[in-house]
Amino acid sequence: MERLMDITLTVNGAQVRRRVEPRQHLVDFLREELGLTGSHAGCEHGVCGACTVRVNGDIVRGCLMLAVQANGCRVDTIEGLSDSGELAKLQKAFHEKNALQCGFCTPGMLLAAQDLILNSKKPTREEISIHISGNYCRCTGYQAIVDAIEEVIHGQS
Ligand code: FES
Ligand code: FES
Repeated sequence: MERLMDITLTVNGAQVRRRVEPRQHLVDFLREELGLTGSHAGCEHGVCGACTVRVNGDIVRGCLMLAVQANGCRVDTIEGLSDSGELAKLQKAFHEKNALQCGFCTPGMLLAAQDLILNSKKPTREEISIHISGNYCRCTGYQAIVDAIEEVIHGQS
């Protein structure tokens, strides 16, 4: 039987302690242990970006990181960033531009977009496209997503 490991981390501002299997991925930990189902498990091998979460301020693939690797880290998910209002402008723009349909990609897409907004001065449309190219969307064709992100960036100028 696999040995369980104790981890302590801060998730959306709250300290969490759990005993986990060393092989459990962060996205599964968040979804199954904490009930934070906004981060989606899509491809589960690092390609689609649906599992994107923020760890110590950087976006990561929750399906490529083990929960035990997040021991001692600060993890922010779509739930926490929505509740704090940090994503409010992006969420409004996504809604107004019809930048989502089924919504499966949307949490990861919003985290990737916010990462760009926080870390880039004034990205061009092409740079926006490149930045979100690691987040797959099967529904929208991407143009509306880029429109929404662009609108938020212009709104800040
Ligand atoms: S589920 Fe993690 S990248 Fe697809
Ligand atoms: S809105 Fe359906 S995958 Fe993006």
